[in-house]
Amino acid sequence: MKNVFPSPHPLVSTKLSLLRDVRTEPKKFRELVRELSALLAYEATLDLATQDIELQTPLAMTQGKRLLERIGLIPVLRAGLGMVEGVWELMPSAEVWHIGLYRDERTLKPVSYYNRLPIEPTVSVCLILDPMLATGGSAVATVDILKEWGVSKIKYIGIIAAPEGIERLHNAHPDVPIHIAGIDERLNEHGYILPGLGDAGDRMFGT
Ligand code: PRP
Ligand code: URA
Repeated sequence: MKNVFPSPHPLVSTKLSLLRDVRTEPKKFRELVRELSALLAYEATLDLATQDIELQTPLAMTQGKRLLERIGLIPVLRAGLGMVEGVWELMPSAEVWHIGLYRDERTLKPVSYYNRLPIEPTVSVCLILDPMLATGGSAVATVDILKEWGVSKIKYIGIIAAPEGIERLHNAHPDVPIHIAGIDERLNEHGYILPGLGDAGDRMFGT
């Protein structure tokens, strides 16, 4: 499918396998999420605009580059929190704007509980960080919020996606590239991704 980018990198697929493993404890789980997020963000930001600059090395003047974009990291609470640190290390001047959503267990619809975005957008590109793309409801709601805020350049960075979630996000927002570590088989009757990794928030925070 166009605009869907499962990572081809062996470091990503091997770390993803460790992440899925039921024996992986929260400390290791958080470490893997942080590392995977950095690797995926590296792939997702290949097309960021840069500007030519002149700079002085200890020996000579030379040409260099600086990022033109003002980047916003958008972690979706809770599980998206675990993705921030790894990505932020790569782009320390990024702003972080949290969006709070949880899935209603019965309807599987996203319920919004936190959004402190200012009226005017302060960034030119948003990287949504949420490890799990299941039904796609949370991802679509997050993109809706960001577009309404006034940002048009949005990328989704996740770890595992179900085909159902990819289809829903892609149909609602075909302009949003989806970068993930792996695409799984399907959702179960409770809306969990199979084979998946279970509840990402619970495994990350030990709840
Ligand atoms: C998880 C996950 C996504 C959402 C995905 O969050 O982090 O935000 O589910 O599901 P969807 O694609 O069907 O919307 P959850 O609602 O479990 O909240 P939590 O991170 O606070 O545990
Ligand atoms: N949220 C999770 O944490 N895991 C799933 O499999 C689906 C939604």
